[in-house]
Amino acid sequence: MTDNQRLWLAIALCLAYCAWVGFIIVSHYARQRERRHVTTGAFIVAYASQTGTAKQLAEYQAELLESDRPVKVIALNDLAIDTLRKANDALFVVSTYGDGEPPDNGRRFYRALQQHNKQHNTALLQSLSYRVIALGDSQYPAFCAFGELLDVALQQSGATAIAELEKIDRAQSQPLPGDASQSAESSFKASTWRVTEQQQLNSADGRELFMVTLDAEQALPAWQAGDILDIQPHNANTAIAEWLNKHELNPDTVIAVEGTPTPLKLVLQTRQLTDLAGAGNKEQHILDMPLLPLRSYSIASVPEEGQLKLMVRKQYHPDGTPGIGSGWLTTYAGSEEPFCANVKDNPLCHIAQLDVPLVLIGAGSGLAGIRAQLAKRYYANSDADIWLIYGEQSPQLDNVIPAAIEAWQMGFAGLKIQQAYSRGEPGQYVQDVMVAAADELQNIIARGAHIYVCGSHQGMGQAVHQTFTDILGEDALMQLIDEQRYHRDTY
Ligand SMILES: Cc1cc2nc3c(=O)[nH]c(=O)nc-3n(C[C@H](O)[C@H](O)[C@H](O)COP(=O)(O)OP(=O)(O)OC[C@H]3O[C@@H](n4cnc5c(N)ncnc54)[C@H](O)[C@@H]3O)c2cc1C
Ligand SMILES: Cc1cc2nc3c(=O)[nH]c(=O)nc-3n(C[C@H](O)[C@H](O)[C@H](O)COP(=O)(O)O)c2cc1C
Repeated sequence: MTDNQRLWLAIALCLAYCAWVGFIIVSHYARQRERRHVTTGAFIVAYASQTGTAKQLAEYQAELLESDRPVKVIALNDLAIDTLRKANDALFVVSTYGDGEPPDNGRRFYRALQQHNKQHNTALLQSLSYRVIALGDSQYPAFCAFGELLDVALQQSGATAIAELEKIDRAQSQPLPGDASQSAESSFKASTWRVTEQQQLNSADGRELFMVTLDAEQALPAWQAGDILDIQPHNANTAIAEWLNKHELNPDTVIAVEGTPTPLKLVLQTRQLTDLAGAGNKEQHILDMPLLPLRSYSIASVPEEGQLKLMVRKQYHPDGTPGIGSGWLTTYAGSEEPFCANVKDNPLCHIAQLDVPLVLIGAGSGLAGIRAQLAKRYYANSDADIWLIYGEQSPQLDNVIPAAIEAWQMGFAGLKIQQAYSRGEPGQYVQDVMVAAADELQNIIARGAHIYVCGSHQGMGQAVHQTFTDILGEDALMQLIDEQRYHRDTY
């Protein structure tokens, strides 16, 4: 090929690349416009949801609205204050995240509404009638705090509440209205699983980390990296036997559960084993015993692997008994005892773009979500850069990455791993690695990187969020959230 031909080929390739980038940008903005478009006069159902529950409830509520007007379900951040100003009716379904904070897809809207209320004295939303449903968990000190804050801010801007703020407490394992997967025992049983392997990844007594492999009884459902598995834990068989013994009941006695004759030993698998002392009608008391609470786990594998994997930190109660969910998954569950679990869509943690760099940050059991994101890129043959920053306690006891992902590392030319051990030499947390590499972080983000953070919110997620705020500035971080490039899977 002559120099001239090479030059023309290079120009043609550059033009094709520019056209492709242009196409991606145009279709991104077209999708964004479509997402944000609200027809005049529509009933607005806006949600703010970190892990998808409030979104699911918003969609259900929208279906219930018997309205001859169009109904628009929209993420709160996609709702312009000016659009709301022209609307007459809105329902807000919002959860609370962090320490009484808005979920990421509601933060910007709330800030804008607050700013307006501070700066102007006008009743901006005076035409609006609204209702707020707040999802929260009463085990957190700021129970349903974001729902309350939003309610107050809407009132301050002149909107009229047509009903009192409704709070839904997830700590009560209360079924969500319309949630087929959680509304009754029978429907939760739609998806049945068995634990086939419990592999301990570390050698730290008292805080064991397990890779737990599950097989589905039915066809493996579809899921994506970033999704969550909600499980219905069981009691240990020894605890059930002790309880039956104490109350002098026969495990094979059959009672009717939702019309189905069921042996007592099965009825007790998922119920909180409260004392029967003084109960008049024992059978009714047993049926009234609350179910064990559901527990959520970040999925650690992708469907291409043919198995669903979790990484579970075994927790202990003060009396030394294992935690309800982690004890079930890591200790008691076995291949003989099927249990119910459902995959939950977690859209804020999906990363569809495979050709952009990825920064993965996590600690402890947060390796679960990280493993799934890596697996996704591995099976898609992506060769974009991946930078993994992972924190654990001890280099000697917690060298868990090799067992979890070593086999794949060869497949990733661009994978860089940095580990921080809080009890290593020097003692370091993931945020210390971030600070030391601040320039490099800014650089990779400028190259279009997505960021995914997985693990405990209190121990790690908050510190990572603060460090990003310090390094990038609050506005730039907010911009990343808006562009759906900062994915927080912290719990
Ligand atoms: C979206 C999401 C994803 C998650 N992903 C993962 C994951 O990938 N891996 C993972 O390991 N976990 C994950 N979790 C956490 C997980 O859901 C459970 O919270 C965790 O396993 C502990 O639950 P448990 O039922 O085992 O413990 P519980 O029985 O709820 O006990 C938890 C802790 O509470 C304390 N406690 C309980 N009862 C008492 C008491 N009476 N007195 C004093 N203290 C008490 C104990 O210190 C105990 O360690 C995730 C959570 C969420 C919300
Ligand atoms: C990291 C984290 C922090 C949370 N903080 C609070 C809180 O401060 N107050 C509260 O009432 N609920 C809190 N919750 C509970 C959630 O609001 C509750 O689980 C809700 O159902 C989640 O809904 P979503 O899936 O739509 O985000 C928190 C949950 C997580 C995982």
